[in-house]
Amino acid sequence: MSSVQSSNSPKRETFSSRGVFILAAIGSAVGLGNIWRFPYITYDNGGGAFIIPYLVALLTAGIPLLFLDYALGHKYRGSAPLAFRRFSKKFETFGWWQVLINVIIAIYYAVILGWAASYTYYSLDSAWGSDPSSFFFKDFLQMADGASVSLDFVGVITGPLIVVWIGILAVLALGVQKGVGKTSVVFIPLLMVMFVVLVITALFLPGAAEGLNALFTPNWEKLTEPSVWIAAYGQIFFSLSICFGIMITYSSYLKKDTDLTGSGLVVGFANSSFELLAGIGVFAALGFMATAAGKEVSEVATSGIGLAFIAFPAIIDQAPFGQAIGVLFFGSLLFAGVTSLISILEVIIAAVQDKLKFGRVKSTAIVCVPMGIISTILFGTTTGLPVLDVLDKFVNNFGIVAVAFFSLVAISFSRRLPMLADHINKTSSNKLGFIWRTVVGIITPIVLGYMLFSEVFKVIEEGYGGYPTWFVNVFGWGMAIGLVVISFILSRTKWKNEEKFVEEE
Ligand code: ALA
Repeated sequence: MSSVQSSNSPKRETFSSRGVFILAAIGSAVGLGNIWRFPYITYDNGGGAFIIPYLVALLTAGIPLLFLDYALGHKYRGSAPLAFRRFSKKFETFGWWQVLINVIIAIYYAVILGWAASYTYYSLDSAWGSDPSSFFFKDFLQMADGASVSLDFVGVITGPLIVVWIGILAVLALGVQKGVGKTSVVFIPLLMVMFVVLVITALFLPGAAEGLNALFTPNWEKLTEPSVWIAAYGQIFFSLSICFGIMITYSSYLKKDTDLTGSGLVVGFANSSFELLAGIGVFAALGFMATAAGKEVSEVATSGIGLAFIAFPAIIDQAPFGQAIGVLFFGSLLFAGVTSLISILEVIIAAVQDKLKFGRVKSTAIVCVPMGIISTILFGTTTGLPVLDVLDKFVNNFGIVAVAFFSLVAISFSRRLPMLADHINKTSSNKLGFIWRTVVGIITPIVLGYMLFSEVFKVIEEGYGGYPTWFVNVFGWGMAIGLVVISFILSRTKWKNEEKFVEEE
């Protein structure tokens, strides 16, 4: 046993078993990042060649940093700010920075789940008619021209969005084991079955091979661009749910003698397998669509949000068993996203519980109600899409990657990585040694630092996505810098009834 809390502290909730923790961690990892984000990020960043930075990022950062998150959460038994504070008082800001990153992700994540819920239903009768693209932008989102903000609410968006927030609030209010754990135990096996059926069906569609060729044909030149590498690291962090507090929080709910590295390898492997499977399934379906339309795959593989909500309806219209494909695809997106959104919000709720010593239900309400309102105002309106695009880009590249870089540098300079490795090694099957310390303490921070600053200069020079400067300054840079400032302020505020934490050697 490496650390104990003082005897007067309330007992921290735990997952009932390692199996439940693994399912919850997979539930967190497998989400929109795998089904909605990975295929288009891969396609945009060199297709098959992207698999190289992706695997490098997984092995040099993903898995090692997953272990680091586990070590911090499990040893210090706290939400991200508390774990960092117990590691060193000076580091609390990193924890709040991670919490705030989750605030941003959650508010846009929920709206995509709302869309997925609507599209699961629309799949039954192809509600999008003959032009899914025009339906998505004009009839469904009712998008305003240009990038702006407004209070013109769109009923079909706000309705499901509010339902998502209420449903998630209800689950989270039930607590760690009954809410988070049980939801994952039900949703994850169901999701796996649905998704495997979907991918197999997609692979049998005529033209599937064309899609796979497009996905996996490497564009080697892309590997010389730093932005491709940062996209790979950003994708790994987002997808594995590392470096933004989730795994710190979840591992703080683990029993003391858990095999941490064994669990981490299962989670990492499951997540990347699911991600590759999603890429294969989505591109097999796109290959079918391109072949049917007599076009190149590149012509039908519109990037980003369009890939799921524009291309798939077209596939559903033309494919045999189209309705079933639609329900499976959008249903998988919804199920995968629900367990991830739960984990994203859990980071914030856990921090509020630790800091203010509020009960579970009160903390859940304090977090979810205002965030649900902000989410509805920002994304339930005709102007939500550009805001979502900018927030997603900046919170990943200049939020998650930035906090990963700065916190790793700080941890590395603290010279306490061996102590964290010792903690993990006490209970784990795979031992961490010199390689882990070198990767986490030296190599990854150097790589991340280089990528981060190249990307910062690139976006400063070129702007982002053709949006007006004021818009990128507010929702991009303003948001990213704002998170750091607010985290610093939060780290200066007092903890209620702070327990003494005794660190055992
Ligand atoms: N890890 C979650 C996802 O991939 C956030 O969507």
